[in-house]
Amino acid sequence: MSTHSVDVTPSEHVEDPESDVTPSEHVEDPKTDVTPSEHVEDLETDVTPSENAEDLETSCIAPKINFDFSKFPERPRKLSKDGDMLRAKSLSEISFSGLGRLSPQMSSRIDRISELHCSDGLPPPLPVNTDLDTASSAEGHETSLMMSEAWEALKQAKLHFHGEAVGTVAATDNFEEKLNYDQVFVRDFVPSALAFLMHKEPDIVKNFLLKTIQLQSSEKKIDFFHLGEGVMPASFKVLHDPFKNADEIKADFGESAIGRVAPIDSGFWWIILLRAYTKSTGDSSLADMPECQKGMRLILSLCLSEGFDTIPTLLCADGCCMIDRRMGVYGYPIEIQALFFMALRCAHVLLKRDGEGMEFVHHIEMRLYALIYHMREYFWLNFKKLNDIYRYKTEEYSRTAVNKFNVIPDSLPEWIFDFMPTCGGYFIGNVGPSKMDFRWFCLGNCVAILASLATPTQSNAIMDLIEARWEELVGEMPLKICYPAIEGHEWKILTGCDPKNTRWSYHNGGSWPVLIWLLTAACIKTKRKHIAEKAVVLIEERLSKDGWPEYYDGKTGQYIGKQARKQQTWSIAGYLVAKMLLEEDSHLGMIALEEDIRMESTINKTTSCSSFFYASGSKIF
Ligand code: GLC
Repeated sequence: MSTHSVDVTPSEHVEDPESDVTPSEHVEDPKTDVTPSEHVEDLETDVTPSENAEDLETSCIAPKINFDFSKFPERPRKLSKDGDMLRAKSLSEISFSGLGRLSPQMSSRIDRISELHCSDGLPPPLPVNTDLDTASSAEGHETSLMMSEAWEALKQAKLHFHGEAVGTVAATDNFEEKLNYDQVFVRDFVPSALAFLMHKEPDIVKNFLLKTIQLQSSEKKIDFFHLGEGVMPASFKVLHDPFKNADEIKADFGESAIGRVAPIDSGFWWIILLRAYTKSTGDSSLADMPECQKGMRLILSLCLSEGFDTIPTLLCADGCCMIDRRMGVYGYPIEIQALFFMALRCAHVLLKRDGEGMEFVHHIEMRLYALIYHMREYFWLNFKKLNDIYRYKTEEYSRTAVNKFNVIPDSLPEWIFDFMPTCGGYFIGNVGPSKMDFRWFCLGNCVAILASLATPTQSNAIMDLIEARWEELVGEMPLKICYPAIEGHEWKILTGCDPKNTRWSYHNGGSWPVLIWLLTAACIKTKRKHIAEKAVVLIEERLSKDGWPEYYDGKTGQYIGKQARKQQTWSIAGYLVAKMLLEEDSHLGMIALEEDIRMESTINKTTSCSSFFYASGSKIF
């Protein structure tokens, strides 16, 4: 099986079939030619997404999403007849497949969710803890015991510095070798931070944000090489200096990490968390501090600087994100591109409109346009696009080439033809010159929904795919980090024979409970709460009993991971965040961004990105 193969091909449908206008004519369209500064105030506003022709091709269910995060959806979403059938089918499949090991109590709970959501073909807007929990007070009791246990464990995971909590350690497992699991990882702290914010405990989050931004300005040198000023740490720990008789914080920027991996995601998560803090507390004084403004600008300088790029995505080394070992994700991994997009949008909101800040705001806007276009056109895969790629011509030369990245159809992996449902789609793992990694990655797709990188139709298509491929992606334990696993020769070449990443284990198709919070948030944003409810039932069946493992192994995620730490903090926090989101969906506002109407309309009206790009006359850094 070959998972990474071809290159993407931006599709024929990119060109507006009804338009035979040349790029320059588009530029002169007064409605289209919006200068970046006009967008400044709009990047966090409510949007009514437009349904263009492309959108309608993408999913079988294409409702408009116009989410007001302060309210629960007032009315159930209307489904087309096809949509009803699809929903009903996938729900019944979920009930009967892959759940063999569930307790009768849990199975009946899942069946009740299915019935509730299938009875009229509509996903009703039920608050999760009413009907279901009153139906069985025993279940409710168990659930609340699990919540209390989780809160207690999260408290135990807090790390203190000079008497103040500054983060949570990755795991508190006393039975396994600690390695670096006794450190506060930036990415791992995100679900903890969200849990604390939802619980109205913002101080630990503020301390964390301030500590990590201080660490950014410390000297960063590996051997004789100086790291970029904006690089944020992967993790940090508190050390006691016996000579000074004082505690100090020691950060790791990748120099001590296994394989010296670069934490490209840390800076993005930091910005995203700063916005979450600001949104949740209403306190903008932290973000306005000169240290935070400068820290943001330094992070942005690293990723907006000019280089040799021909595309707006970020070129990355392997192991630069949650998947922090060699797994063939080098190039332009979806996880980083989605986080990059979200961080740009958050920074756009948080940056001050002063001299330096304003310059960055302009660069952000230019990059956002280019990035959103690129991702939606070249990373998006659905049944139709797959069929287009399957029939691609190769060796095309010139700007009018259809197969822009020269994807060789023979390199399409076999599994993709079975995996791709007729309704549904997703952002593939990676796109670069002669490289198209078709693997499905959970984090990148959920973040794409939350950041509105995906159109509403694409967001729905991602959820359709999760429902249609429930057994593969959720199975017995939510949620697969990626699908499918690589094995045999491909595993040897891509992982360098990594024994930790054997097929269906760890990063290679393992199941990571922490991802439940991202799935839940994405479900709420797309108004598919029932999907998250079902996934949470699976988590509640085992996670606490198994000691909150870091990950699960096996094709359906049935085994506790071979080398999984127990008492893994983000497994605990991920569960708490999912539960709190289900109870109160207005929490979603701190971690989701609505579509920006002006950016969308500009993108939709501009048939060729390059025409917009050249017309704007603005240089990116
Ligand atoms: C593993 C994970 C990484 C995580 C770290 C600490 O290395 O791959 O994403 O940050 O453990 O939990």
